[in-house]
Amino acid sequence: MRLIALAAVLVLGAAAPASPILLREQAWTPAGETLAYDMTHAPAECAMDRTRATEVGRALFRSPALLGGPAARAGLSCNACHSNGRVNARFMLPELTTRPGAADVTSEWSSKTRGDGVANPIDIPDLAGVGERAALGHTRNPSLENFVHGVVVEEFQGHEPHSQAFEGLIAYLHGLRVCETAAAPVTLTHAADDVRRAVTAAEGADAETARLVLLAAQDAMGRIVERLPARQFARQRTEFEALSRELGRMRTSDDVGATMEAALSGWRVRFDAAITRLARNERQTYFDEARLRRALAQ
Ligand code: HEC
Repeated sequence: MRLIALAAVLVLGAAAPASPILLREQAWTPAGETLAYDMTHAPAECAMDRTRATEVGRALFRSPALLGGPAARAGLSCNACHSNGRVNARFMLPELTTRPGAADVTSEWSSKTRGDGVANPIDIPDLAGVGERAALGHTRNPSLENFVHGVVVEEFQGHEPHSQAFEGLIAYLHGLRVCETAAAPVTLTHAADDVRRAVTAAEGADAETARLVLLAAQDAMGRIVERLPARQFARQRTEFEALSRELGRMRTSDDVGATMEAALSGWRVRFDAAITRLARNERQTYFDEARLRRALAQ
C-alpha cells in the first residue's frame, strides 16, 4: 500500500506544474524555461512606407477575424506565425506542428479542403521581401494574391475578404522589407500603437473594410487587457473594455463612417489618457518579462 502511495506521489511530482493560462499565445508557445521571454519578445518590425492600404493590411495581418474556423477561435492570426512579418521561431501549436517554428499547411484541424491526413509541418518562412519572390510556398505559386487568397479561404476557412481589405493585406506584404532581425521587447507602447493605427486605418476605409478593421482594433485592445493582471488592474480592465465596446458600437452602426467621424476624436482622447496612466505601472503588467514569469509560476 505504502509503495503504491509513494509511486503515486512520485508520478504526480514528476508531471510539469501546469502554468495558469494568462495569454492567448500560450496555446502556441512551448511551456518551459523561456515561456515568459518568448511571450514578451518578437522579431523587431522593419520600417515600412505607410499608406492607407498598408495600414489596413497591417491591422488585418494581426487579427484572427481574417481567418475562420478553429484557428480564429484559438486567436491565431497571420502574425502568430509570421511575427511582425518575420518568423515566430517558437510557434508550437500541437494541432499544427511537432517542432517549433513550423506549421502543417495541409492540416485537417485548420482546413476542411486542404487537409491531407498527414502531419507534415513546413518551416515558417520569413515574409520580409516576399513581394520580390518569383514563387511562393512549397507549391511554387507564382502569384502572391493567389497564394494569400488560398491561405485565408482554404487553409484557414476565412471568409472571402472584401476587395479593399484584401488589397490592403497584399500592399502590406509588399511593404515588408528586409531589415535587422533582432528580437525586441513587446511593449505597451507597441500594443497601444497597434490599436491607434488600426482605428486610423478604419477611418479611411470603405464601410465593409472599416468594420473588419475596427474588429481588428478591438482584438488589439484585447491583447492589452489580457496583459493586465486581473485583480490589480480591475479598474483599468473595465475602462479598456468600455472603450472597446464603443468601437464595437461604431462597427455595428448603420453608417459606420459617419459614426466614426462623430465619435472617434473623443474616443482617442480617452484611450490616450488611459494608456498614459497605465504606462506608469507597466512594470507590474504582463508586458514585463519578470512579472509574467512570476505569474506563470504561481
Ligand atoms: C500556423 C502558421 C501560419 C499562419 C497562421 C499563417 N502562415 Fe503563412 N506560412 C506558414 C508556413 C508554414 C508557410 C510555408 C508554406 C509552404 O511552403 O507551402 C507559409 C507561407 C506563407 C507565404 C509564402 C512565403 C514564401 O516565401 O513562400 C505567405 C505570403 C504567407 N505565408 C502569408 C500569410 C498570411 C497573409 C497569413 C494570414 C492570412 C498567413 N500566412 C498565416 C505558416 C503560417
